[in-house]
Amino acid sequence: MSTTELIAPLHADMTAWRRDIHAHPELGFEEARTADLVARQLEAWGLEVHRGVGRTGVVGTLRAGSGSRSVGLRADMDALPIDEANTFAHRSQHAGVMHACGHDGHTAMLLGAARYLSQTRRFSGVVHFIFQPAEEGLGGAKAMVDDGLFERFPCEAIFGMHNRPSLEVGRFAVRSGPMMAGGAFFDIRITGKGAHGARPETGVDAALAAAQVAVSLQSIVSRNVPPVETAVLSVTRIHSGDAYNVIPQTAALGGTVRAFSREVMKLVEASMRRVASGTAAAFGATAEVDFRELFIPTVNDPAEAEFAARICTELVGAANVMRQPPLIMASEDFSFMLERVPGCYINIGNGSANGEGGCEVHNPAYDFNDAALPLGAAFFARLVEARLTA
Ligand code: NI
Repeated sequence: MSTTELIAPLHADMTAWRRDIHAHPELGFEEARTADLVARQLEAWGLEVHRGVGRTGVVGTLRAGSGSRSVGLRADMDALPIDEANTFAHRSQHAGVMHACGHDGHTAMLLGAARYLSQTRRFSGVVHFIFQPAEEGLGGAKAMVDDGLFERFPCEAIFGMHNRPSLEVGRFAVRSGPMMAGGAFFDIRITGKGAHGARPETGVDAALAAAQVAVSLQSIVSRNVPPVETAVLSVTRIHSGDAYNVIPQTAALGGTVRAFSREVMKLVEASMRRVASGTAAAFGATAEVDFRELFIPTVNDPAEAEFAARICTELVGAANVMRQPPLIMASEDFSFMLERVPGCYINIGNGSANGEGGCEVHNPAYDFNDAALPLGAAFFARLVEARLTA
């Protein structure tokens, strides 16, 4: 029987796990119940299980045959601080927390693959099932890497996937090279000299300096970043002053930067430091820049992307595998694992724009589409069988 045929009977189990996790969402690094559910299942299927990797992460290891080659498969487990608007039976039971990004589905698909591979073992080598915490901006991937993930569980290549609303169920999208942006947050503190609102000549107006800094920062992407590269710099906060008759002594700006290479991100950071301090100095003020790179760009290894696309094509046919889809400006912290081990992150269709599963992620009406579960599990399973041939 084919892998797809053998996975089909697991659809009901995967749906049950997915809905159970959806009903009990947990924020990053608080995934105690979810991690326990995952670890207990893996243990029941005979995998060697390690809990507490990167705080609440879980790794399950499955060996078959005598092969020594290894592959890592990764899913994320955390939910978002959003109040769920859905009213179906499996809606979130925790006010203010919901699985609005489909990580419940990612976890269920990887569990499905682990269940199938532990039953069939039609491969020779080692598979590490990596269930990571805190993908949503809290650094869960990095926490696992810093906890020795790849020293303790060496992987020749790693793979992960994210559901994509507006891509039909039954389709995949695979991109070689850069795929998702790296992201940074910044804060700029401008210091001038407070004065009476009617006597500007006795002070240094921090609000005016901040306004000029906000304008000047917009020259960085247009004048410093090479036109063939791309970046976004958005000033999203400006705060200064409390009174009508006081020239403020300080002002604060904040915002975000996105780029597809670390070189461009470094260029933007250096330019920001120069532009902020130089512009502030022109007004007699000073600027202090705090630049924090939170996510590095998600970059797929070309050979591993080819391999992943081949597996997708085998499952759904070339017509249903979107190759080189447009770059995604959002960020993904699987990038910190891909920085260490070559691999590929793919997208799996969650449903067409106006149909079931079409609601965008991070929306209170979002839900992972259970129809995609067997296909996601089959991708992971076939990938292992094709790579670690018995
Ligand atoms: Ni997500």
